[in-house]
Amino acid sequence: MTDQNKRGLARNTPGYGDPEFAAYLRRTFYKSMGYSGAMLDKPVIGIVDTGSAFNNCHRTAPELIKAVERGVLSAGGLPMPFPTVSLCEPSLFPTSMHFRNLAALDTETMLAAQPMDAAVMIGGCDKTVPAQLMGAASSDVPSIQVVTGPMLATPFQGERLAACTDCRRYWAAYRAGKVTAERIGEIEGRLASTAGTCGVMGTASTMACISEALGFMPAGHSSIPAVHADRLRAAEEVGTLVMRFVENPIRPSQLITEHSVENALRVLLALGGSTNAMIHLTAIAGRRGIKIDLHRVNELSDTTPVLVDLKPTGEGYMEDFHSAGGMPALLWELRDLLHHDCIDVTGQTLGERLREPAFVDRRYIRAFAEPVSPVGGLVALFGTLAPRGALLKRSAATPTLFETEARCLVFDGPADLAARIDDPALDVEATDILILKNAGPLTPAGMPEAGYLPIPTKLGRAGVKDMVRISDCRMSGTAFGTIVLHVTPEAAAGGPLGLAESGDRIRLSVEHRSIDLLVDPAELERRRQSWSPPTVPARGWDRIIHDQVLQADEGCDLRVLRAEGP
Ligand code: FES
Repeated sequence: MTDQNKRGLARNTPGYGDPEFAAYLRRTFYKSMGYSGAMLDKPVIGIVDTGSAFNNCHRTAPELIKAVERGVLSAGGLPMPFPTVSLCEPSLFPTSMHFRNLAALDTETMLAAQPMDAAVMIGGCDKTVPAQLMGAASSDVPSIQVVTGPMLATPFQGERLAACTDCRRYWAAYRAGKVTAERIGEIEGRLASTAGTCGVMGTASTMACISEALGFMPAGHSSIPAVHADRLRAAEEVGTLVMRFVENPIRPSQLITEHSVENALRVLLALGGSTNAMIHLTAIAGRRGIKIDLHRVNELSDTTPVLVDLKPTGEGYMEDFHSAGGMPALLWELRDLLHHDCIDVTGQTLGERLREPAFVDRRYIRAFAEPVSPVGGLVALFGTLAPRGALLKRSAATPTLFETEARCLVFDGPADLAARIDDPALDVEATDILILKNAGPLTPAGMPEAGYLPIPTKLGRAGVKDMVRISDCRMSGTAFGTIVLHVTPEAAAGGPLGLAESGDRIRLSVEHRSIDLLVDPAELERRRQSWSPPTVPARGWDRIIHDQVLQADEGCDLRVLRAEGP
């Protein structure tokens, strides 16, 4: 019997060449933590702790860990919390995306190296949920995910506010001179007033729903508000449930399949979910050798209605989605489009879960026959500007801009954008297309959420609310506008975006799924002769990213961490 097939603390002993001594030594040291011999004989459940003073979205991690521990202890196990990298969206320079793969590698490595029979992963903020799923997928340690849950919206002077669609809405109004500095300061204290992740269908909420769609948590767990007592009961339930994995493991490789990934894509589209989720789901699937084809995404998008009416595209907040029935209600509405053979961490198939109709409040989760939109929220575009694809969240865009041909104004990178966007002398008109290049995954900027280029102040003050904006970076899942993202290949990888110049004409056609740079190929070739790739970072994580990171259509994972295809 190898170490890996043993139970509890007898697993994964250090390589001293004497496994019995290694196990003896381990128990000796663990006894220094005050455990009895009887406790050290129990099955071990690792609990991934991503609590951090730098992560407001994970403020409740300590009480969630306690609740999971209760469940594990009551079912006869030994809970062992351990820290991993914690990523919070507003806390990280240059951007949390730059570190998602670091968190995934940390999670994968610690799940695999430490002695545990199964794991519970506590995550929540945008990049932690996919990072944990990527790590679980690669380690294949039986794992259940507990998300911290969304914050509650705060009633404020006749409306409700929650991060971060409302943050952007008010900031745009402030930039346009419609909100005073005093009022924007007052609102700052109202936008995120409880614990939890952003309260709209942004990336964190979308990824929580995708985790549930993939089967990594029991039905209904993804949307329980962070501060609700049910959130703690759910964590306790997971602590009990995960103990079943000791005798009957359900591994990530059983959860992440071609069928479950397609179900998750349907869910993403029906949610009107975050564009970031496309990158993350591609990376998660890639860890099991499953490729997401953007042409197939378009087919799914054309046959999947948007059913969920939440901000940033609609009206509700995550607490409304939860009380409207959450994921069980959404899956019930989508049942005819889904693969029913997929299992979740309870061992049930989706077909078994969908035998009975779920409660649904139609204000926030529409009937399949009466959707918010008859087609899905996302559409992939291809053309001479993006040969390997780009993404548009059409559910958050302005339909009158779907068919646009116009001249473009190009910003060479985030610094150039910041320096010039508010210049009163900027040569820009409301009908122009704004382009930001050199902000993709290969760049020092790290693919930030800068794709939501601000409307130039002089146009914003004139009442312009939306323009076509194109970039090789991402946008927040809480943002909105006619914004083309993830242009692939990115400018820094030699993509055509890097050759675009101000004054060039661009044609966007949502109808034809196309995005084209209308410049003569000979002229582009001339420009290519004077193009040079970005500087190579000298060392460290930036160097690893530079050498290893893949493009958006491959999930921006590190090449060395992907699975070989089947
Ligand atoms: Fe963490 Fe929005 S900042 S979910």
